[in-house]
Amino acid sequence: MRTIGLVGSGNVAWNFAHSLLATSLQVSWIWGRNSSALESLHRATHIPIFTTFPDRAVDLILICVKDDAITDIIQQIPPSCKIAYTSGTVSLQELNFSGTHCGVFYPLQSFSKERIIELAQVPFLIESSNKAFENDLFLLAQKISKAVFIMDSKQRLHVHIAAVFANNFVNHLIHLSESYLRGKQIDPTIIRPLLQETIEKALVFDPYKGQSGPARRKDKKTIEKHLDQLDTKLSEIYKILTKSIVETYSPKTNPNDQL
Ligand SMILES: NC(=O)c1ccc[n+]([C@@H]2O[C@H](COP(=O)([O-])OP(=O)(O)OC[C@H]3O[C@@H](n4cnc5c(N)ncnc54)[C@H](OP(=O)(O)O)[C@@H]3O)[C@@H](O)[C@H]2O)c1
Repeated sequence: MRTIGLVGSGNVAWNFAHSLLATSLQVSWIWGRNSSALESLHRATHIPIFTTFPDRAVDLILICVKDDAITDIIQQIPPSCKIAYTSGTVSLQELNFSGTHCGVFYPLQSFSKERIIELAQVPFLIESSNKAFENDLFLLAQKISKAVFIMDSKQRLHVHIAAVFANNFVNHLIHLSESYLRGKQIDPTIIRPLLQETIEKALVFDPYKGQSGPARRKDKKTIEKHLDQLDTKLSEIYKILTKSIVETYSPKTNPNDQL
């Protein structure tokens, strides 16, 4: 497989369109519904764009639309085509593609249009019920990345859930932390060296052992002072995470000792 048709013009399609230019693969077209996003992509990559299904054969159609739209897109693709999609959570079983070549091509990374990711370091999780096609997808992914895995839909779901905790929730907490500082007229970049150390320490050291802070120490008065400062939304998040940390380090704790 060498020629690819991309479906969608969001974060993943944008990254694939750019990054695949540097590989031996060729993106022959991009099909989407968002004309202005498609035109931006075309200006940046010169790849032909279409708002209706392109009448140009490719070796693989890579569907990079939001999870809830995958079934609808698949129904618009002729069953003779070979297709794969990039979702972590949509299972092969829930799709209704009448063709014989349908698979998963899930890149385990966080993609945004503003930042083009080097795909060589991105783990790719591959699956198809057609084992010959699964092998073709595996070999294709190996042309892009050094970390390619065959994984079924259930395992991929677990990986995606872990990714939501590691990336989406952590990133949201960073956003909340910075906007809290902004709200107190404090430069949010003051937190950046701490953030850097947090991630670096978690990567080289066991995050269980590396946990610090008032919840880890069970410094109740400090926790109460913090809660006094927070609005309802932040206070709820603070309480849930504090409870989780306290319980993690006190498996047999007395319930009266809990917050
Ligand atoms: N972003 C990540 O970090 C990441 C990582 C790994 C896997 N994924 C997976 O990759 C896929 C795409 O994610 P993304 O982040 O690129 O999403 P995104 O930036 O939100 O883009 C979604 C794309 O789907 C299109 N779309 C939405 N609803 C549609 C519909 N009903 N019919 C046709 N097209 C529709 C959107 O078009 P409009 O612009 O017109 O709405 C847009 O082109 C998802 O399955 C996601 O789970 C994402």
